[in-house]
Amino acid sequence: MKILTIHGPNLNLLGQREPEIYGSKSLDMINLEINRRGEALELITTCHQSNHEGEIIDWLHNAESEGFSGIIINPAAFTHTSLAIRDAIVAIEVPVIEVHLSNISARDEFRQKSLTAAVCRGSICGFGPASYLAALETFKILL
Ligand code: DQA
Repeated sequence: MKILTIHGPNLNLLGQREPEIYGSKSLDMINLEINRRGEALELITTCHQSNHEGEIIDWLHNAESEGFSGIIINPAAFTHTSLAIRDAIVAIEVPVIEVHLSNISARDEFRQKSLTAAVCRGSICGFGPASYLAALETFKILL
């Protein structure tokens, strides 16, 4: 079973970017953890990051034809702004779990609203990189 992880804008800077909020691990370290946990769960994992909304939408559209059974997405700031990513999630059949490193419900008011969460299968946030691992474990149970 193949699971696609999509990281949104600015997450390529993890480790250097606001470490007091997002932690000290780089995106490469987080992807390594995702891949290792995937192996342990007998899931095939692929991780992509983009700073571009359209590229993220293309990955969502292509997920089914590329054989993915589930998608984990951290839309980052697009969570709060992107009707286009929301529509893409609605348009596809592959189930999507939204994740965040930080607990967006406990942050600035403008981060508390997610445009995408309501059209995902569910969301996991506030556990740092473990949010992604919990999403993988969830797919292992659900799929
Ligand atoms: C984030 C939370 C967003 O509000 C923010 O724009 C991010 C990261 C998180 O993982 O906590 O870039 O998605």
